[in-house]
Amino acid sequence: MDAILLHREQIQSTVRHLAEAISKDFEGKELLAVGILKGSFIFMADLVRHITVPVTIDFIDISSYGLAAESSGEVRILKDLDTSVEGRNVLVVEDIVDTGLTLKYLLGILRERNPRSLRVCTLLDKPSRRRTVVTLDYCGFEIPDVFVVGYGLDYAEKYRNYPDIWVIKPSS
Ligand code: IMP
Repeated sequence: MDAILLHREQIQSTVRHLAEAISKDFEGKELLAVGILKGSFIFMADLVRHITVPVTIDFIDISSYGLAAESSGEVRILKDLDTSVEGRNVLVVEDIVDTGLTLKYLLGILRERNPRSLRVCTLLDKPSRRRTVVTLDYCGFEIPDVFVVGYGLDYAEKYRNYPDIWVIKPSS
C-alpha cells in the first residue's frame, strides 16, 4: 500500500455535492440509480442517502479487469438488472472510469432499452487512460494514472472496505 489519495472526509463532501447537483437536475422527477457491481456499492449507498428526489436502486454486474490490472476491452453481463429501464430517468453510478470501455458498452445496452434519459455519475475519472469517448455528467474527482483501492474499489477483490482511497502498486 502506498499512500492515501483521497481521505474519507473529502470523499464524503464530494459525494454530498454530487447528490445535491443530481437532486437539483432531477427536481420533480423520479430516478432509477443503476450501480455497476461490485465497485460502486459503497459510493451508491452514500450517494442515494443524499439524493432528495424519489429514487429506486438496481445493480448490474459486468465483467471487466479480473485479476490483472489491464482492460481487455471485452465485457459481458454477469448479472442483469431486475427492473425495466424503459421510459425512466436512469443514472448509471460507476466507481471509476478508466479506459471507458466498460461504460461505453453498458450505455449502449441501456440505450437500446429506451430509457427516458440516461446519465452517468462516476466518483473517479482517470482521463489519461481513455480509449473511447464517454460523457460523464457528474464526476467526483479526476485522478492521475495510478491504481487505487478502497471505498468499494479492489485489487484482486481486496481492500473494498477501506474508508479512504489509497494508491496501490499492483505488486503489493
Ligand atoms: P474501464 O472499462 O477501463 O473504464 O474500466 C472500468 C473498471 O475497471 C472500473 O469499474 C473498475 O472496476 C476497474 N478499475 C479501473 N481502474 C481501477 C483502479 O484504479 N482501481 C480499481 N479498479 C479499477
